[in-house]
This record gives sequence, C-alpha cells and structure tokens, in this order.
Amino acid sequence: MSSIKAKIVATARSLPENIMTNHDLEKIVDTSDHWIQSRTGIKQRHVVGENEASSDISTKIALTLLEKSQLSPTEIDVIIVGTVTPDHFTPSTAAIVQNNINAKNAWGFDLSAACSGFIYGLETGSSLIKSGNYNNVMVIGVDTMTSILDFQDRDTCVIFGDGGGGVLLQQTKNNGIIDSLLHMDGSGGEYLIIPGGGSKIPASVKSVENRDHFIKQDGKTVFKHAVRGMADVSSKILKNNNLTGNDISLFIPHQANKRIIDAAAERCGISKERVLINIGKYGNTTAGTIPIALSEAVDDGKIKNGDYVLLSSFGAGFTWGSILLKWED
Ligand code: ACO
Repeated sequence: MSSIKAKIVATARSLPENIMTNHDLEKIVDTSDHWIQSRTGIKQRHVVGENEASSDISTKIALTLLEKSQLSPTEIDVIIVGTVTPDHFTPSTAAIVQNNINAKNAWGFDLSAACSGFIYGLETGSSLIKSGNYNNVMVIGVDTMTSILDFQDRDTCVIFGDGGGGVLLQQTKNNGIIDSLLHMDGSGGEYLIIPGGGSKIPASVKSVENRDHFIKQDGKTVFKHAVRGMADVSSKILKNNNLTGNDISLFIPHQANKRIIDAAAERCGISKERVLINIGKYGNTTAGTIPIALSEAVDDGKIKNGDYVLLSSFGAGFTWGSILLKWED
C-alpha cells in the first residue's frame, strides 16, 4: 500500500456580499425570525447578486488558495467542484474555474453529492493524491442555493444560503487525511429532490408552471436520517481508529440545522465546546458548509498541529460520510 497521504495545505472561503436576514424573509413568506431561529439556529444567510453564480464564488476561493499556497496556476493538477448548483449542466463549473484562474495544466470535474459534495470531493482528491500521480489538487464545495429555492415554499426557502469554500491538497508521508467512511442510500432520493430540468422532466413551460426546477424536501424525514446518519458514521470512524469523542479537538459537521448538529454530536460523545457551529451566519450552503467552517477554524487559530479534526456530512441522495484528519501544519 502507498505510504503517501493527502494533507490540507491551504483553506479558503467566499460568501457573496448581500445578506438576507430572517426579517427580510418575513416580507417574502409567512414566517418569523423567532420560528427560523428556534427551529434551525439560522439568523441570516448570504445571497448572490444579479448574474453571480457558483463559478464566481469558486473562482474567488481558487484564487485565495493559490495566494495562500504560493503556487502558480500552472502548478494545479486537478480541480474538483462539489455542487448541486453548477452554472450549467455543461461545461462544468470546474472547467470555468480552470479558465478563470488560468490553470492551464489542470483537468477536473463537478461532483454531485449535495450536502456531502465536499466530503465526497475530499475523498476523491485524497485518492488522486495517494495515487502518487498528482501533487496539487483543489477541492471546492460551493452552492448557490437561491438559484433553486422556491420562495413560496416556507418549509424550504428559509434554511438555505449561498457560498462555498475549498482546500488545496498536497502529498505527505505523515498525517493529514487519515481515514474516511462514505455512504449512499438511493432509496432516500425522493425526500430531497429537484424533480425538473434534467432528462426525467426536461425543461418545458409545464415543468416551469409546476415549479419542478425548485428543490423540494420532506423536512422531518430528512431530519431523522441526518441525525442518525451523521451520528452513526462519526461514531464508526472514531471506533475504527480507536478514538472516542474526547480525542476530537474540533468536530465540523455539515450545517443543516443546529438541532441536527446538537443531536448528532451528543450521540457520538463530542462535547459542545468542540463543535463548530456557524449556521446562524450562513444558513445551509449545501456543499459549502464544511469547507467554509474549516477555513474559518483555520483562520481563527482553532486547529493546531497534531489535532484530530472530524468532518461529517449528510445530504440528498441520501449521501453521508465522515473524514478524519490529524492536522499537519
Ligand atoms: N415559518 C413558520 N412556520 C413554519 C415554517 C416557516 N418557515 N415552516 C414550517 N412551518 C410550520 C409548519 O407548517 C408546521 O405548522 P403546523 O404545526 O401548523 O402544521 C410547524 O411550523 C412545524 O413544522 P415542522 O415541519 O414540524 O417543523 P420542524 O421542527 O420539523 O422543522 C425543518 C422543519 C426546519 C425543515 C426541519 O424539519 C429540518 O431542518 N429538516 C431537515 C431539512 C434539511 O436540513 N434539509 C437540507 C438538506 S439535507 C441536509 O442538509 C441534512
């Protein structure tokens, strides 16, 4: 087995400038700041401006990663963008970013795993690094959720926001990404779905009238599966590595709902002060939540050399998983 591992050498995030508060939403749908905060923990979310898309957010992330890692664009080998809101079905968002940053030697692709997009991307990027064939891999998680939100559906539109983050991976022989555990259960597909706009229900006047291009969810079912999925996968990866919740310096879960995070952390024995929660500021940015939170934690000095950091996600598909890091500066 290869002794090469992947380590994170730079982190970045980008949030659109515009902020939509819960009070702003009160003017659009029948909701209240009190309901949103008490049911989800969200106070506000960032939203894109006119003509701003996932590639614009991703390009800013990629440029920051280049700056922080002191690499030239031509040194980037692969660009992976986890997203369910690509600019277009084709070309990929990764290709647009490659062109925007002038990464002439990079190949890449978009990866669709909803809220697990960054975790799936990190596992894919880490595997490419472990192959020994690539030295510099960018993994970005980004979503422009407002492009698929139905602002007549109060169950759904209040929980999401726009934004993303990313990491640059390089080879190491020491620590870095030390384990991963990923899952998928397609029988949960119907509970969180964008029915229209693809090959099943191609765009038509009827599909638009039916509002088929918006994301739809059965919130209660998703909630239950998310708590169980994130708690189980986190507990399992800890057990597989002979660790307990007490060994984790920082738990960075997908930010879907503060109640989901609290329940999942409690079930896997990680105390509150070691759980990163920033959903109040950003809402659920889908593939963006984990890399945004990771980048904030790094910038705030919350992660030190040798710390165990646990990332966990749950999302549409259903898709879920955990990645265990032993941080290496
Ligand atoms: N404002 C005010 N009232 C509302 C709103 C709103 N925005 N939305 C629903 N309500 C009402 C409902 O109509 C219901 O009223 P009723 O009792 O008169 O019927 C009441 O509030 C309670 O609704 P519930 O659906 O029981 O509320 P719940 O506590 O389940 O919270 C929520 C709903 C926030 C959607 C929750 O189920 C949830 O977070 N689910 C997970 C969904 C999710 O995270 N999806 C994202 C993608 S997957 C992922 O990231 C994990």
